[in-house]
Amino acid sequence: MSIFYNEKERAFKLRAKDTDYMLKVINGEYLGHVYYGRKVPDEDLSYLLRFDESPFTPEQNDRDRAVYLDTTPFEYPCFGIGDYREPAMMIMDSDGMSTCDLRYVSHKIYDGKPALDGMPATFATENSPAQTLEITMKDSHAEIEAVLVYSVFENLDVIARSVRFTNVGSKPVKLTRALSACVEFDTDKMDMITLNGSWARERWVERAPLHHGKQSVDSCKGESSHQSNPFVALCAHNADEDMGEVFGFNFVYSGNFFAQAEVTQHKKTRFVMGINPLDFEWLLDAGETFTAPEVVMVHSDEGIGKMSRTFHDLYRENLIRGEYKDKRRPILINNWEATYFNFNTEKLIDIAKEASKLGIEMLVMDDGWFGHRDSDNSSLGDWFVYEKKINGGLKHLVEEVNKLGMKFGIWFEPEMISPDSELYKAHPDWAIQIKGRPLTLCREQYVLDYSQKEVRDYVYSMMRDILDNANIEYIKWDMNRQLTEVGSNFLPKERQRELWHRYVLGVYDLMNRLTTDYPHILLENCSGGGARFDPAMLYYSPQIWCSDDTDAIERLKIQHGTSMCYPCSAMGAHVSDCPNHTVGRNTPFKTRGHVAMVGTFGYELDVTRIPQQDRDMIPAQIEEFKKYNPLVRTGDHYRIGNMFEDNTWDAWMFVAKDKSEALFEFVQVMGRPNMRSRRIMLKGLDPDAYYYEESEPDKLLSGAALMNAGINVAKIWGVDGISGDFSSKILHFVRR
Ligand code: GLA
Repeated sequence: MSIFYNEKERAFKLRAKDTDYMLKVINGEYLGHVYYGRKVPDEDLSYLLRFDESPFTPEQNDRDRAVYLDTTPFEYPCFGIGDYREPAMMIMDSDGMSTCDLRYVSHKIYDGKPALDGMPATFATENSPAQTLEITMKDSHAEIEAVLVYSVFENLDVIARSVRFTNVGSKPVKLTRALSACVEFDTDKMDMITLNGSWARERWVERAPLHHGKQSVDSCKGESSHQSNPFVALCAHNADEDMGEVFGFNFVYSGNFFAQAEVTQHKKTRFVMGINPLDFEWLLDAGETFTAPEVVMVHSDEGIGKMSRTFHDLYRENLIRGEYKDKRRPILINNWEATYFNFNTEKLIDIAKEASKLGIEMLVMDDGWFGHRDSDNSSLGDWFVYEKKINGGLKHLVEEVNKLGMKFGIWFEPEMISPDSELYKAHPDWAIQIKGRPLTLCREQYVLDYSQKEVRDYVYSMMRDILDNANIEYIKWDMNRQLTEVGSNFLPKERQRELWHRYVLGVYDLMNRLTTDYPHILLENCSGGGARFDPAMLYYSPQIWCSDDTDAIERLKIQHGTSMCYPCSAMGAHVSDCPNHTVGRNTPFKTRGHVAMVGTFGYELDVTRIPQQDRDMIPAQIEEFKKYNPLVRTGDHYRIGNMFEDNTWDAWMFVAKDKSEALFEFVQVMGRPNMRSRRIMLKGLDPDAYYYEESEPDKLLSGAALMNAGINVAKIWGVDGISGDFSSKILHFVRR
C-alpha cells in the first residue's frame, strides 16, 4: 500500500519508499497541497494549511481566510479566480473566456499504473510496483473535467504525475495551457539546478539560488533541445552530492517544454512543469479527451547523488524496454567521423575488416547512403539505396559485414525532407509550412508534417523496404533541425496550434511501430548530437547519442550533466580520432576509452588510418569495457569530481548493488604546479567490509577507510608512472 485516504480529514497521503506527499480537499472543494518531503508517520498534516492574508485579492465565503486563493498551496492551480501565481491550466471556453475553476469531485485508488494514451511513460513492474491515485476535478461552468493522476513507486522515492482533460459539456472548449504538474514549497530557500548548453556542449550543470519572481527553462524548438533539458532540481542551499534535500523533476516528453519556479510574495515557491504553453492550444470537442505527458518527481534526502541514482534505477527498470534493456550493447564502429559523406561499399568493408580483427562487433553506416546524398543538401526522405556509393547493393554490403562476424546498423533521419528529393517533388505539401510564407531552411532541410498518418505511413514503408531486405540489427534515428513556420496543410484553422504536440505524437507513433515490428533491432536516438536526450526517448531506445562532441575532456562535463537524471547505460559514447573534430584537442587513446566506457561504448574513427599504437590498444580496451560494463549498466553511479567547480580533474565510481565490487575512474585534466597529491574519498562502499584493489590483492583496506580517509591519487601516478594532462586511470576494488 502506498496511497492512503483519511476520509474524515479528506486527506491523501502518498508514500513512495522514504518520501511522503500529502494533499487534501479543502474548503470550497479545492485541492490543496500539504507536504512533500521525508517520510513522517502522521497521516494528516492539515495544520500546515495556514494561510497568510493577502491584501487586495478576491476572497470568498465571507472572508474565510482559508480560501484566500492567492496564497493557497494548490495541487493544480487554474487561471482567473484570484490566484495570480503561475497557473497550471488555462482554457478558452465557448464564450472566449479564460477563467477556469477546478473543484474536487471524486477519487479512486488502484494498484498498478496506467499507460498514457499514445505517449511514453514509466510503468510498473513486478520488481518495482506502483499504485495510482486519480482525482477527478471539474469546472462546472466550462464543463471541463481534469483527472489528476499520481502514480507512486513503492520501492523508489518516485511519484509520477500526469493529467487527463475531458470536455464533459456540449460546447467546444480549448485548452490553452495544460501543464502536467505543480508542486508548492513552503520556502524560497532553495537552489535551482538546470541542464543547459548548446550543440556539442549539451547538459552543462547550472545552479543558482531562487529569487523573487519567475525563473524558468524551456524549449520552443519542437524538440527537447541542445539548449535546455526538461529537467530541474530544487534543492536546499547546502545540498551537495551526498547530503541535503533535493527534489528532481524530469518531463517524459520530446517536444516544447516549460519548467518554472516562482518565488511568491510570501517567500514560498511554486514549481510547474509541462508542455510549453507558448503557441499551444488544444481543441476539445464535446466528449474529447487530452492527456498531458508525464512528469517524474524524485525526492532525495541524501543529496544530488541519491536523486540521480533514483532516476537511474527508475529508468533502467521502469522506462527502458526491449531486448537490450538489461544487455550489454554490441561494440560498434560508426563511420561518421571516419568518412563523413565520403564512403562507398569498399571503404565500409575495409573499416569492417580491420574492426572485426580487433574485436569490434558492429558496423554502423551513418548519413549518406540513400537517394543521391553526397552532402547535407539533398535526399532526406528518399530512403532508397544510393547505388553509386553502395555499389553492389545494401544486401551485399550487409552480407559482407556479417561474414566478418559483425552486425550491421544503419542511420535514418525519418522526420526530415530535403527540397532536393524525390519525396519533395512528389509531396511538397508534406513539409511543415505556412502557405504563402517563405519556408526557412536549416541544415538545408525541412521537417515533415508528422501529424499526418499518411506521411508517417509513407516514410515507414520506405524504411521497411530497407529493413526487410537486409539483416539490419541497429538503427540510429537522427533529427537534425528544429521547427519553424509551424503550420500544417492538413489541419483545420482552429487546430493549427496543435501541430507542435501532434508532431511529437506522430514521432512516438512511428517509433512505437518500428520497435514493435522489429523488436530485435537496437534503436539509438540522436538529434544533432544530444538534443533529444530526454526520458521519452528512453521508452523507445535504450540509448541516446549524448553529443556530437566526442572529445574525452569535453565529454566529462557533458556526461556528468547527463548523469543528473539519465543512466550512464543509456549514454551513447564513442572513442574518436585526434585531433578531436570538435575542439582540436589531443588526448591519450586510453583516456578516450575510459571516458567512453561510462556509456554504451564504441568507436567513431577510421580504424584503417589511426596510428598503429592506438589500433594496438583496441583489443585490450574492448576487454576492459566488457569486464566493467555490467557494473556500469547495473551498479550505482557516484560522481566524485565536478569539472564545473574545479576543471583540473574528474572522477567517478560505479558500485555494485551488493557492494561487492566498485570501479573507480580518474581523469587528470590540467596539472597544477605544487599540487601533486590529491586525496580522494571513495563513495558507496560497505564501510564494514574489506576491499583490495585488483592490482594489489594482498593489501586490504576497509570500506570505511576508503570512504572516510580516501585514496591518494599521487600514489596512483607513482605506481604505473602515468602522468600528464588528460591521462586517466581506473581502479577496480573487490570485496574480500
Ligand atoms: C548528426 C549526428 C551525427 C551524424 C550526423 C549525420 O549531427 O549527431 O552523429 O549522424 O548527424 O548527418
